[in-house]
Amino acid sequence: MKISYHGHSVVQINTNGKTILIDPFITGNSLTDLKAEEVHADVIVLTHGHNDHVGDTVAIAKRCGSLVVANADLTTYLSWQGVETHGMNIGGACHFDFGTVKLTQAFHGSGYATHNNEIIYCGMPTGVLFSSEGKTIYHAGDTGLFSDMKLIGERHPIDVAFLPIGDNFTMGPEDAAYAAKLLQAKTVVPIHYNTFPPIKQNPNLFIELLEEKNGKVLNPGEAIEI
Ligand code: NI
Ligand code: MN
Repeated sequence: MKISYHGHSVVQINTNGKTILIDPFITGNSLTDLKAEEVHADVIVLTHGHNDHVGDTVAIAKRCGSLVVANADLTTYLSWQGVETHGMNIGGACHFDFGTVKLTQAFHGSGYATHNNEIIYCGMPTGVLFSSEGKTIYHAGDTGLFSDMKLIGERHPIDVAFLPIGDNFTMGPEDAAYAAKLLQAKTVVPIHYNTFPPIKQNPNLFIELLEEKNGKVLNPGEAIEI
């Protein structure tokens, strides 16, 4: 399984001959190496309804025929825009041909802001556990620190955890380092930083905070194989 990072919270997984994109915020993402009109996705998984996570989902899904997987309130809203969806909710897993998706809790918001100055309710924010080829990835989405991360790690031994470190909207580096300790992931990759001024962070300082010395900074476009 190949996993690549593309700035902000954008993570791409290649497994079982499929391309899975998590939170494809490309247009407006100054750090990404991707182009919204060129990227390919068989599946798009969304952690929550905020615009910096839903991003280019509808355009990509319409062009590629991608299946969009997220909490059922968010997928209902997106299905009305003509994309194929699969709705889930926190605590539930689903076995797809490309791998298993399980949504976990996250402490955050999830409203989608429209061009008409409306906030669309998009359900509870989530994290994502993705398993395939005997490996498990945890994408925390946007969240504050919570002690049940320990439970998530105990129930699902994690090979790679993607944790937000930007602070202001999510965990900052110190809380994310504590989260890494609770999760006991083999490898920890920081996300959700430096895209906007309020979330400016030095990811290398976060890596130094990790007691297990198991952190890896991925620059946009860089990948790891597990
Ligand atoms: Ni958010
Ligand atoms: Mn965000």
